[in-house]
Amino acid sequence: MKQGINQHQNLQVFDAHPAVADVKSEVLAGLAQPQKTLPAKFFYDQRGSRLFEAITQLPEYYLTRTEIGLLRQHGGEIAELVGQGSVLMEYGSGASIKIRLLLEALQPDCYVPMDISKEFLIASANKLLDDYPWLSIYAGCVDYSQPLELPKALAEAPHKLGFFPGSSMGNFTPAESQAFLRRARTTLGSGGRFLLGIDLAKDEAVLHAAYNDSQGVTASFNKNILRHLNRTLRASFSEELFEHQARVNHSQSRVEMHLVSKIDQMVHVAGTTIVLRKGESLHTENSYKYRIESLQWMARQAGFELEKSWVDDNGYFALVMLKAS
Ligand code: AVJ
Repeated sequence: MKQGINQHQNLQVFDAHPAVADVKSEVLAGLAQPQKTLPAKFFYDQRGSRLFEAITQLPEYYLTRTEIGLLRQHGGEIAELVGQGSVLMEYGSGASIKIRLLLEALQPDCYVPMDISKEFLIASANKLLDDYPWLSIYAGCVDYSQPLELPKALAEAPHKLGFFPGSSMGNFTPAESQAFLRRARTTLGSGGRFLLGIDLAKDEAVLHAAYNDSQGVTASFNKNILRHLNRTLRASFSEELFEHQARVNHSQSRVEMHLVSKIDQMVHVAGTTIVLRKGESLHTENSYKYRIESLQWMARQAGFELEKSWVDDNGYFALVMLKAS
């Protein structure tokens, strides 16, 4: 019988010692702005990650299902483009079905998951190695929103493929995405490619349903940020005093999530008092939607050419292959 987590021989770890977030000053800075904001990354405590998992299973949330379909359908073609002897670098920890599909199609020489949580990184890597004993993993504990210095063996690998699925880039502003792509271009080098999962701009009704699901899972996910801050910052938010709203902002090509105060209220956050008026919102997330052409333009500014893109029949979601130019 297997006891606990298997520790595999073909797992190595590098640790860039990412700076620990100063949660208090980040949150208070957001709440001091005219439009109060909370950083979207604080959704993801244990409960938040489980709620997001549940979102990906919702009938209205087409993103995950569509992207997995594209990976299944086009994995062979992706592998043909990339060829043999690649180093696959994932921005994120590789806990999802998506990386399994890509690993099976690509059979890379080395897989490099990168994540800020070392524990999660190592646990996911060991799970993958249970199922893919042929695989060699070089896991990186890094904050990929920051510049990244690779260990020599990886820096010198000529044939790197970055993978950033799930429309995760959609949480960045366009300026942040631009900067992120520039850094990725440096990391992946002159022979590098980058496979991105991008949610496409589309009909408002489809977007509205995806972020205001009928079972209220997205509402619970949105409000979970308040619970998380109550715990980590000794804040005094009451979930019942806020309403979940997802708004389609056409001019900015994004879906915004807000928590709208149902009454005039005062909240304590890390020793500071925050005043909220009835109807005033906390802006908790942006989820940008792109057109292939705008993504192509952004990629070009960052030193990538668009090599190929794959879109589902509804035109909802795209896998985009960028190649260092
Ligand atoms: C994980 C950032 C891609 O923007 O669709 C899901 C998060 N927010 N429902 C997204 C999310 C509300 C998701 N991303």
